[in-house]
Amino acid sequence: MKNMRTQIGIVGAGPAGLVLSHLLHLEGIESVVIENRSRQYVEERVRAGVLEQGTVDMMVETGVGERLKREGLVHYGVNLRFSRRTHHINFAELAGGQGITIYAQHEVIKDLSNARLAAGGQIFYEVEDVSVDNFEPHSSSKPSIRFRKDGEPYELTSDFIAGCDGFHGICRPSIPSGVLEVFERVYPFAWLGILAEAPPSSEELIYAYHERGFALLSMRSPTISRLYIQCSPEEDILNWPDARIWEELHRRLATDDGWKLTEGPVTQKGITPMRSFVIEPMQYGKMFLAGDAAHIVPPTGAKGLNLAVADVRVLARAFSEFYKSGRTHLLEEYSRTCLRRVWKVQRFSWWMTSMLHLFEGDNAFDQRRQLAELDYVTGSRAASQSLAENYVGLPMDWGS
Ligand code: FAD
Ligand code: PHB
Repeated sequence: MKNMRTQIGIVGAGPAGLVLSHLLHLEGIESVVIENRSRQYVEERVRAGVLEQGTVDMMVETGVGERLKREGLVHYGVNLRFSRRTHHINFAELAGGQGITIYAQHEVIKDLSNARLAAGGQIFYEVEDVSVDNFEPHSSSKPSIRFRKDGEPYELTSDFIAGCDGFHGICRPSIPSGVLEVFERVYPFAWLGILAEAPPSSEELIYAYHERGFALLSMRSPTISRLYIQCSPEEDILNWPDARIWEELHRRLATDDGWKLTEGPVTQKGITPMRSFVIEPMQYGKMFLAGDAAHIVPPTGAKGLNLAVADVRVLARAFSEFYKSGRTHLLEEYSRTCLRRVWKVQRFSWWMTSMLHLFEGDNAFDQRRQLAELDYVTGSRAASQSLAENYVGLPMDWGS
């Protein structure tokens, strides 16, 4: 068995794990990251694309925002489309000049892993049989992460473990049953998403409500479109040849003002189920859960990555206080501090989802109510401002 020692053992090299490792490094705190996938896999996995202003500012201020500033597309609004008309929500005017930036999650991952490795940081990719031990409140030994790398067994001991291993990771299920309370809602629909080599047909995102179901037009660059349609969670992607997807997008995004959807070769497609999920608390003993390991939001508010980043900002600050002064106050407050934001973001993501999707079993009354809500949100300054301030990202609560 090879033995290693660090201050913070981090499970998962997604946005939560890598941002945490980066922020800790800037505070002079050592960490080791363990990841079960290959570097290439995590750097190519197609996922989120919308960064809140606070996420962008953090990346720029901590020295990993160079490429983001150069290549990211800054937007100062989004569009809501319903009844064949488009309504613009103007963030510049409604959210104090803040905006969002379109920059793919896997590009964020590349920038962070490059920065960590260039600074001598340790990331172990393609590890197997990961397990976490001795993190329980009364454990007399140091927390440890065991794993295999190239067939060899390793044990990494640390002062604390950060469980940043996503929704399907091993950290959350390693906490004894009965400790965590689970809050969950599974939606009766999914998103079928494509990447297409087509210039985006709109400068800013379009969220569309339609009697055939929700559709979203997003993008990755001036030449790549990212598009989604609501579908059944049981849908088989094989039943969706490209032509059928485009046909559905044309129908759901249609307007009366001559707007045209540009098509192009589809380079990637997949189906994502939708759920809202929170565990409380986000800590047990010396293990802290962050990001999708602790909570999931439906993608309609574009919040998952941003919430993962917000968690680890709070966590890095708490570790920093602990190592500087020995005080455990911020660590003890970690879960409570994060959960205040988590629940507000849950509310917003649920609200956007409920307003824009068709729910099986809903009747004509419910559809008229959804249209009235869209009409209100786009017609009232107070309502559109509420959407705008949530979409660009609520201010951080540091819990101090
Ligand atoms: P993850 O990114 O899941 O990272 C966890 C890491 O841990 C992974 O690399 C995984 O391989 C690794 N791991 C798992 N198990 C183990 C183990 N046993 N040992 C070691 N490593 C392990 N969010 C937004 O903010 N904006 C958006 O526009 C947006 N759009 C989305 C669109 C889609 C289609 C999807 C699927 C998600 C979207 N999200 C969006 C959500 C966002 O991608 C996630 O919330 C984000 O990836 C969470 O980061 P994380 O680091 O917590 O978890
Ligand atoms: C994306 O570009 O992938 C995207 C944009 C907005 C969302 C979700 C996903 O709400």
